Amino acid sequence: MAMRFTDDFIDRLRDSNDIESVISSYIELRRRGRNLVGLCPFHNEKTPSFTVYPETASYYCFGCGAGGDVIGFIRNIENLDYIEAVKLLADRSGIKMPDADYDDSTANMRRRIYEANREAARFYHETLFTSQGQAQLRYLEGRGMSLKMIKHFGLGAAPDDWHALENHLTAKGFKRNELVAANLLRMSEKNGKKYYYDAFRAKVMFPVIDVRGNVVAFGGRVLDNSKPKYINTSDTLVYKKSNELFAMNFAKNGNDRKIILCEGYMDVIALHAAGFENAVAGLGTALTPEQVSLISRYADEVSLCYDSDEAGQKAVRAALLLFSKTGVRTKVIRLRGGKDPDEIIRDHGKEMFAKLLGEADNDIEYRLSLLRDKYIIETADGKVNFLREASRLLSKCDSLERDIYAMKLADELQVSKDAIMQHIAQAVKRDQNAKAKARLSEAQKSAQSIEKAIDPQRLKNIKVTKAEDTVILTLLNNPGFYSKLKERLCAGLFFTAVNNRLFLVIASRLENGESVDLSHISQFLTQEEMSAVAKLLANASMISNTMQECEDCLCVLETEKKNRDRQSPSDMSDDSFLALFSSLNNKDGQN
Ligand code: GTP
Ligand code: MN
Repeated sequence: MAMRFTDDFIDRLRDSNDIESVISSYIELRRRGRNLVGLCPFHNEKTPSFTVYPETASYYCFGCGAGGDVIGFIRNIENLDYIEAVKLLADRSGIKMPDADYDDSTANMRRRIYEANREAARFYHETLFTSQGQAQLRYLEGRGMSLKMIKHFGLGAAPDDWHALENHLTAKGFKRNELVAANLLRMSEKNGKKYYYDAFRAKVMFPVIDVRGNVVAFGGRVLDNSKPKYINTSDTLVYKKSNELFAMNFAKNGNDRKIILCEGYMDVIALHAAGFENAVAGLGTALTPEQVSLISRYADEVSLCYDSDEAGQKAVRAALLLFSKTGVRTKVIRLRGGKDPDEIIRDHGKEMFAKLLGEADNDIEYRLSLLRDKYIIETADGKVNFLREASRLLSKCDSLERDIYAMKLADELQVSKDAIMQHIAQAVKRDQNAKAKARLSEAQKSAQSIEKAIDPQRLKNIKVTKAEDTVILTLLNNPGFYSKLKERLCAGLFFTAVNNRLFLVIASRLENGESVDLSHISQFLTQEEMSAVAKLLANASMISNTMQECEDCLCVLETEKKNRDRQSPSDMSDDSFLALFSSLNNKDGQN
C-alpha cells in the first residue's frame, strides 16, 4: 500500500461516519454509561462483551480481543482491506475519494474479480436463451422452474465448450490471470506452456451473490446423473464459501427476522418460488460459525430444513449446537412426503410446506424426541434414564417452557409433575455451578490465549508489558509529553513485539508533529496492532496520565533493557532504528 490518506481526509471521513451509527447498522447496541455494548459480530456470544467508545471513536471486544476504529470495524466485518474500507465509508457518506493511483495490487485484483464475475453471470444468463444453452433451459423447465425465477436468480448456462467464457471475457479486456484468480478459468502447464480452459462447461449455472449485491461465486450443476453433481467456485480473494449463504441477498430483506436454512440451491429456488423468500442454503459445506453469525445479523429465528436421513439429522444436531451459542432461536422442520423442499412443493404444493413449517418442532421438542428414540421408555430403567436427561434438557429452558413440558412428560410417562419439577430444579443447580466454574476458567483462558497469539512475550513479562502499555497510552493521550521524554525514548526500549511496532509508528508521527489520533494512525497499523491500541484505550482508566507515572515506567523499561543488553550485547543498532523510522516517514504525505 503505497498511498496514504491525509489526516484532513480521514477527519472528514470519521466525522461523517460516526462510529456509533455505523456499528449500529450491523449489530444492536445498548447504552451502558458513556459507552455502548452489544453482541460481538466477530465471535459467537450470548452476553455482550463488545463495547463501543464514542469518546475515542473506537471499539473493543473483551471476549475475542478484536478492536479498532470505524475503518477497522468495516475492514473486519466486510472482510476488506484498508483502502476498500475507506472507499465504502466514503461512498456511504458521499465523500469524494482523493485522486490518486491506488497502487494496491490486491485491491485491484479483487475489483477485477468482482467485475469478471458480474460479466460472467451476464454471459451465462444470456447464453441460457441461445442455442448453446438450449439443453440447460430445457433442464430447468423440466424441473418446473418458471421464467420469473430464472430471471430473479439470474440462472444461466455454461456452454459445452472449453473456451466460450474465456473468449467472451478476454474480448472484454479481462486478463487470463484475473480469470484464473476468479476461478472462472483453470490453467494447466505442460512442457512449460500454459493452457487455459473454462472451469464450468455444460452446466446449469447458479450465481452466488453476497449481501452487498456482488457476484462472488458460482455453482454449476450437471444436466444428467453424472458425478460430481455440482462444481462450485473454490475460495478466491473475494469469496470464502464458509462465510456465505446462497440467497442471503434476498432473504435478508423483509424476513420478519426469520430464516429458513436448507441444503440445496434447488430447494432455495423452489421455496422462493412458493413465496418463502427467507430461505437460504449453505454452499456444499457443513454449516460454519461464520454462516451462523451471518444469519444472526438478520434473524432471531432459524428453521432448519435438512434431509431426514442419518446425515441430515447429524447436520441438524451440529447446527443446533452452533446456534445455541447465539441468541437465535432454532426450530427443526421434519420433512414428509418427499426428500427435500423442492420435491415436497412440487408433489404436494406449497400448502404442504407451510404446514410442515408451522408444525416445526422448537428445539426442545426435537431434542426430547431424540431422547425418546435413545431409551426404551416402556421399561422402568429406560424411563428413569430418559427422565434424567429430559430434566437436564428442560433445566436450560425458561420457567414457562419448563412448566409446559413437565406437564406433558408427566402425562406421557405417568409420573407426577412435581417429581419432574424437582428433577429439573436439581439439574438447574448443577448447571449453575458448572457454568460459574466454566465461565471463570473460560475468561482466564481466552484472555491469555489472545495475549499469547498476539504477542507471546507479553504473558512472560507482565511488569515490562504493563510499563510499556502505560507509556504508549500516556503518549496517545498526551502527545505533548513526547518532546520532554524523547531523549529517553530510544530504540530497543520496548521489548514486546507489538508494543515495539506501535511505539515506532507513534514516535515517528510525534517526531513530525503529527497527530496520533486512533483514526490517523490506523492506516499504519495491522488489524492486530489496531486491536492492541483499542484494548489500551478501553483500559484507559487504569493509568493516571501523568508525566510522573510515565517516567516511572520508563525507569522500569530502562532497567530491563540494561539487563537484556548485559545478556546479549548489540542487537538492534541505531542504524536499523533510523532505517525503520525513515521508511515510515517516506510513506507519508504522497497524496
Ligand atoms: P438437485 O439434486 O438438483 O435437486 O440439487 P440440490 O440442490 O437439491 O442438491 P443436494 O440436496 O443433492 O445437495 C445440497 C447441496 O450440496 C447442493 O445444492 C450443493 O451446494 C452441494 N452439493 C451437492 N452435490 C455436490 C457435489 O457433487 N459437489 C459439491 N462440491 N457440492 C455438492
Ligand atoms: Mn434436490
